[in-house]
Formats: sequence, structure tokens, C-alpha cells
Amino acid sequence: MAEIFKVKGLAGKKTLNGVIEVSGAKNAVLQALAFSVLFKDELTIKNVPAIEDVKRMTTLLADLGADVVPKKSGSYSIKFSKGIRSEISEEISKKLRASIVLTGPILARTGEVSFPHPGGCVIGARPIDLFVDGFTKLGAKVDFKDGKYHMKAKDGKLHGAEIFMKNQSVTGTQTLMLAAVLAKGKTIIKNAALEPETKHLADFLNKCGAKIKGAGTSTIEVTGTGLLSAKGKSYITPPDRIEAGSFLILGALAGNNLEIKNCDPSWVEALTENLISAGVKMQIGKSSIKFSGSGKIPNSDFKGLNIKTHEYPGFPTDVQAPMVVFLTQATGESFVFETIFEGRLNYAEDLRRMGADIKVWDPHRATVKGPTPLRGREVESPDIRAGLAFLLAAILAEGDSVIHNVYYIDRGYGNIEERLRRIGVDIKRECLEVCAPCVN
Ligand code: EPU
Repeated sequence: MAEIFKVKGLAGKKTLNGVIEVSGAKNAVLQALAFSVLFKDELTIKNVPAIEDVKRMTTLLADLGADVVPKKSGSYSIKFSKGIRSEISEEISKKLRASIVLTGPILARTGEVSFPHPGGCVIGARPIDLFVDGFTKLGAKVDFKDGKYHMKAKDGKLHGAEIFMKNQSVTGTQTLMLAAVLAKGKTIIKNAALEPETKHLADFLNKCGAKIKGAGTSTIEVTGTGLLSAKGKSYITPPDRIEAGSFLILGALAGNNLEIKNCDPSWVEALTENLISAGVKMQIGKSSIKFSGSGKIPNSDFKGLNIKTHEYPGFPTDVQAPMVVFLTQATGESFVFETIFEGRLNYAEDLRRMGADIKVWDPHRATVKGPTPLRGREVESPDIRAGLAFLLAAILAEGDSVIHNVYYIDRGYGNIEERLRRIGVDIKRECLEVCAPCVN
């Protein structure tokens, strides 16, 4: 469905009021859905965000043979009672990078897995060499034939091994950690990614019988066990630190009396520290952050920043685009260095049409001069995070904006327009296609 958002901008007024709640983390729940393959009994996952990527992942699980049952709001139960297919659906996998996480648990449980090169947002090359190297070390034979990877554990079982990850990879670390849970013996993953979701996932798996040490540090040690057992325990998805980060930027720029609720401030310190050094005032609580302000956007008190994206706990690449919207409203020249992906400045041209003064020097570096008032325009989301950045820019702008490819925003942010409307944003979703349900 071709849907758009129509947004009437605040025209420089800081008027957003009330409470906006952060949903469960996309980049934890997709991994939790994947680890359901490690369980012999029913697994319940709670605080599941209402996002498109969850729909794709649950469809993928059902296709692999799982009984996936949506329970009362925001919960799913998953059980593999009829065995597991070891072939990952090409159609969905090509649209969902996180489908790669399933390869580890499937290979470890069934002794084989086949899948196409996973797709997802077009933000750079996104190779899978680290996965292939890791699986090979764990004893799998890897072939690439007819556009698909085929992996087979040599004697039907993976064997623990020492794996040094040449680059830190979030899903690479998580996938190998999950595979190691069902491998024979001990696996040590060195130069592991430090994202807090990895520790959160491991803590739950340990409660269900896994033996994982060091998750959240650069060395993870997993002693293989058998299939895990939830015994009625539920995985509660932690708050989405990327969504929280984007809301913090909105609060800093347009909050009159705005509370960002249900977030873990210790997971967004790279954001809060940068915003504070730019001159933003906020009240940081235990699980919420408040902004109050009045007057006009841009705020001449805010200073430009130098932002360099980095693996956690550094500045997250997923908040780089929203942060650039902040920098358009700060005084002076800011420098942005995107170190993780080479396609994450693709939104710059559209933001420039909205009034931003951005110069992209190469696929990784840009400078932003501010403050510049933003004007409503018609733009198209190139990926999830750039889509959200356009939404922020449209909210701040003078005049009306139309955002196309809303589908990208829906992949990562559930019911976003309802939540924004509640704090005072004038936003409407419209469908451009005339289809049967609309006509009837
Ligand atoms: N890389 C390799 N080889 C590999 C894997 C990765 O060279 O085999 C490189 C990548 O090209 C990139 C760097 O390593 O330059 C880091 O990529 P990483 O593997 O950490 O990214 P990912 O695991 O595919 C996850 C998130 C992304 C987020 C990145 C970085 C999920 C499902 N995805 O991706 O989320 O941007 O970590 O933090 O957890 C998003 O939510 O919009 C999103 C893209």
C-alpha cells in the first residue's frame, strides 16, 4: 500500500506537550523471535512493538514451522511443535536483514540451513562474511549455489570454537552466540559487539538454561547446552534506545513540556551527553527524560557539534539522521562522520530542499551549518531512520510536508502518528491507492 504522512509543521513554535512512550526495541525483539528456535517449549515474548519488521519475522517463523500466536496486546507465543524447516524463505529474507539471525539457531538445531543473501534497508554493502567465518569455525561446511548459502554441520552438530570477529558486528555477535548455545563444548567470541540488547537477550537465555558469560563485553563465552526451556517465563522486550534517542531530539527542539517515558537513560548516554553539550536542558529520571521550553525554533542557544558514529556505547548510527535535523537548528558548523555504513547520508539532498545547509563531502562525511529554518516539502524516506528524520524535520518546519514511503517508518516505529498526535503534532496518514477496502 502506498501510504503517505501529511504533516503541518509547528512553524518554529515549541508547543509539544504531554507524554510520549517508547516502545519495545526493534533490535532486541527481532533477535528474541529468532531465539525461539532454541526452545523446546512455548516461549512468550512481551512488549512487542507493532512494527512491520515484527510481522515479517513472525511470518518467517510460521513458514519455518512455528505456531505463532499473537496474544493480548503486544505479546506473542511461539512454539515449534512440528519440527523446523531449515530453508529460510527467500521472499521475506530479501526484505529483512534481521532474518540472518535465524541462521545460527536453525543451523545449530537442525544441523543445516539455507538462505539467500539477506536484504533490508539500503544503507551500505552489508556483507555476511563474519557470519560465514564464524559458522565455518563452528564446524559448518558452507556452499553458495543458485543464489543461496547452504550450510551443513559436518557431523550434524556444531562444535564450540574460538572466533575472533574481524569487525564488530551486532547481529554477527548475536547470531554466533545463539548458535553456540546448541553447539558441543565451549565457544569464545572475541571482539564481540557491546550493544546492551545482547546482554539483555543473554540474561534471559541464561534463565532458561543457557550458559553465556560476558555478553555486553568484548569477550563472550558460551558453553553449549541442550535445547532451552522457558517453563512459563516470558522475554520482556527492553525499551528501544534508538526510538528514545529520536524522541529526545524532538523534545530538545520542540518540547514545551514533554516527557519521554519508558526509556533507559543509561542506554542513551551518547545522545544525552551530546545534547547537553550543545546546550539542551533536560531532566533525566530513572526511566524518563523531560524537556520544557518556550520560544522559537531554531534556538540560538544551541551550539553545533561534531558527531562520529561508533559501536555502542558510542554515538549510534541509527540516530545519526535525526541528529542532523537537530544540527540544522544549532548555531555554527557541525561535522558528521558516519563510520559504520556508507549509505547513511542519502537523505541529505531532501533535507537541503527543506532548507538545511548540508554539504556531503563523501559517503561518510558531511558538514551542517545552522541555524536554518526548515520549510515543508514533499520528500521520500530512503530508509527507516532517514524516514524518521524527515518526520522530525516536517514537524519543526514552516508549512505542510508530505512524506512518501511511510512503509519504511512503519518498519521501525509502531503507531507513530497516534503517539505524535497525542503530544500535539498535526499528522495524518493517507493511502494513495484506491483499493477495495477503501472503496467499500
Ligand atoms: N559487517 C561486515 N561483515 C559482516 C557483517 C557486518 O563487514 O559479516 C560490517 C557492516 O558492513 C558494517 C559493520 O560491520 O559496516 C557493522 O554492521 P553490523 O553487522 O553491526 O550491523 P547489523 O548487525 O547488520 C544492526 C542493526 C542495525 C544497526 C547496526 C549497527 C539489527 C537487526 N540491525 O545491524 O539496525 O544499524 O546493527 O548498530 O539489530 C536499523 O535499526 O535501522 C538498523 C539498520
